[in-house]
Amino acid sequence: MKIVLATRNAGKIAELRRILAGFDIVGLEEFPSIGEIAETGVTFEENALLKAHAVAQGSGLPAVADDSGLCVDVLNGMPGVFSARWAGRHGDDTANLELLLAQVSDVPDGKLTAHFACAAALALPSGQFRVVEGTLPGSLVRTPRGSGGFGYDPIFVPEGESRTTAELAPEEKDAISHRGRAFRALAPVVRELLGS
Ligand code: IMP
Repeated sequence: MKIVLATRNAGKIAELRRILAGFDIVGLEEFPSIGEIAETGVTFEENALLKAHAVAQGSGLPAVADDSGLCVDVLNGMPGVFSARWAGRHGDDTANLELLLAQVSDVPDGKLTAHFACAAALALPSGQFRVVEGTLPGSLVRTPRGSGGFGYDPIFVPEGESRTTAELAPEEKDAISHRGRAFRALAPVVRELLGS
């Protein structure tokens, strides 16, 4: 059974293929007529669902989409759904991270708790849908460390770890990450709705 993952990110496609073994996961590159989908939602769930519905309608196939971000407690959960464009330009990881560190520069170290969150949605061409969420709790460090991962990884230390998520091996991060948790929670839902 073919499922379209609403992304052009090869890493995400590979990760979902590992988790949903037995399903034929394809990326958006197979559907050039489906253009950019604006993330106009104000929650991770809304954004994941609007992408999954758009791709299910555009492809005529079941579609999975995810939306994720970093939620900092002292900033009332921000950057949240604005994580990718926190400094104003979509996807400028360095600017986003620097702005966030400047915003919390006066906050005592012990108050820098945060979590990564990911919503993963499945939508069928019939309009049926499900959405699940995965989180990874931790805290921020002021000095970026590590060269793996992307985004805010160099300043995020998961609970119970001393390394940042940018210092973890990819499979170590997959095992605990918000996205890994959300995709793994979605697997039985996909099997239930589509049959395995
Ligand atoms: P998206 O869900 O792939 O659009 O990611 C949204 C944004 O959240 C990214 O651009 C990053 O800034 C941030 N983000 C999401 N997941 C991670 C992660 O695993 N590590 C670091 N940053 C992340």
